[in-house]
Amino acid sequence: RKGKTPEEVVKKYLQKVKSPPEEDCTICMEPLGGPSGYKGPGVGPVSKAESVGQLAQCGHQYHFQCLVAMYNNGNKDGSLQCPTCKTIYGVKTGNQPAGKMEYHVIPHSLPGHPDCKTIRIIYNIPPGIQGPEHPNPGKPFTARGFPRHCYLPDSEKGRKVLRLLLVAWDRRLIFSVGTSSTTGESDTVIWNEVHHKTEFGSNLTGHGFPDPGHLDNVLEELRVQGITEEDAVVE
Ligand code: APR
Ligand code: ZN
Repeated sequence: RKGKTPEEVVKKYLQKVKSPPEEDCTICMEPLGGPSGYKGPGVGPVSKAESVGQLAQCGHQYHFQCLVAMYNNGNKDGSLQCPTCKTIYGVKTGNQPAGKMEYHVIPHSLPGHPDCKTIRIIYNIPPGIQGPEHPNPGKPFTARGFPRHCYLPDSEKGRKVLRLLLVAWDRRLIFSVGTSSTTGESDTVIWNEVHHKTEFGSNLTGHGFPDPGHLDNVLEELRVQGITEEDAVVE
C-alpha cells in the first residue's frame, strides 16, 4: 500500500475546472455547481475552487468529494476508474483470494480450432477468511468447483490471451468474492468480469466451443480491466 491519502490519490488524476458546467454529478446526482451530496464519515469541507474536478484523460467531471468517497468504497489500491466511461487511472487491481494459476498444452484440438493444440489453464483457490477488501471481512468464504479447468486454442491469439490472463491473475482480477449468479450462494469465490471457457469438447453450459468471437471478447474484457498487450512483459 502506498502512503498516499485517498484525497492525494484522487487529486493526482484530476485537473482543475474553472467553472463547473450546469450539470449534475453522476455520482451523487446533485448539481456540480453546489456541494457534494455525499455525506459520509470523514467528509470534511473543501474550498469552492477544488470542489469539482475533471479526470485528466477522459475529461468527465465530478465533485471532488464524490470521487474520494468512491475511492474509499473500493479496494484503495491507488487506482481510480471513471464511473462513466471506465477509463482507468493508475493500475487497477481486484480482491481475488490467494490461490494458484497453472497452464499447459494438451495435444487435442478445440471445436472451431482444428489446426492447433489446446492450452489448459487450471485455477485453484481454497476457501478462507475474507479480508478487509471483501464484502464481509472476517467471515469465511467458500470456493466451489475448484480446480476450475479452462481452455484456449494454442494459437497466436490464444497465447496472447494467456499472457494477458497471467497479468490479470497477478492483479487479482480473475476471481472475486461475492454472490454467485449461478447458485445464489453468497460469500463465495466467483468469476470476475473476464469470461473463460470451462468446457472442452461440448457446449452444454454456453461456456464451451465453438465460439468464433471468444478471444476478441476476452481481449476487450481485459482492456476494460486496464490490461493490454503493453502489460504483458516477455521474460
Ligand atoms: N464456466 C465459465 N463461466 C461461467 C460459468 C461456467 N460454468 N458459469 C458462469 N460463468 C460466468 C457467467 O457467465 C458470469 O459472467 O461467470 C460469471 C459469473 O457468474 P457466477 O455464476 O456468479 O460465477 P461462479 O459462481 O463463479 O460460476 C458458476 O462456474 O466454473 C463454474 O464451478 C463453477 O459451477 C460454477 C459456475
Ligand atoms: Zn457529486
